[in-house]
Amino acid sequence: MKALIVYCSDYNKNTEKIARIFAEKVDCDLINIRNVNEVNIENYNLIGFGSGVYRESLSPKIIRLVDKLNLKGKNVFVFSTSGVGIKFYNNSLIKQLESKGAINKGSFACKGSFIARDFTSKKIFDIMSKLSQGHPNDKDIKKAERFISDVVDSL
Ligand SMILES: Cc1cc2nc3c(=O)[nH]c(=O)nc-3n(C[C@H](O)[C@H](O)[C@H](O)COP(=O)(O)O)c2cc1C
Repeated sequence: MKALIVYCSDYNKNTEKIARIFAEKVDCDLINIRNVNEVNIENYNLIGFGSGVYRESLSPKIIRLVDKLNLKGKNVFVFSTSGVGIKFYNNSLIKQLESKGAINKGSFACKGSFIARDFTSKKIFDIMSKLSQGHPNDKDIKKAERFISDVVDSL
């Protein structure tokens, strides 16, 4: 099994933390999308795409990359970190991947710490920001390890 993870983690390296957990657990190649011009995915039979959530969506960089790739028959999974930590944000990328013929093997999400004033003045985000502090934490990491093991077992 040869696996690749491509991630975007431009804000706080929260998503990178999860990407590294996956890569350590299953021994795969890891690429920060910042360093990607072109990826040769031919030799990989599992590809994970991860991103932080920025204003309600995953990074446009990931979406643009996926658009360019030939993913027919490829096993893929999607992961994200966000203030709220819900898998919902992964859904549009999963749809995009499936529309390109990829086979979705899983979706993972957890909270990632942020400071509300970095992107909003809305009060509700102050509470969310407090709840997000310290994430991804040890519990998130355990969940991430379980997730990647399940994905690999399902191949
Ligand atoms: C510009 C910006 C916009 C954000 N928008 C959202 C959002 O819409 N929903 C949410 O739950 N979290 C949001 N967050 C919090 C991030 O998703 C969270 O901190 C995430 O872990 C960042 O990932 P990264 O450190 O890998 O870049 C936002 C953070 C920033 C900086």
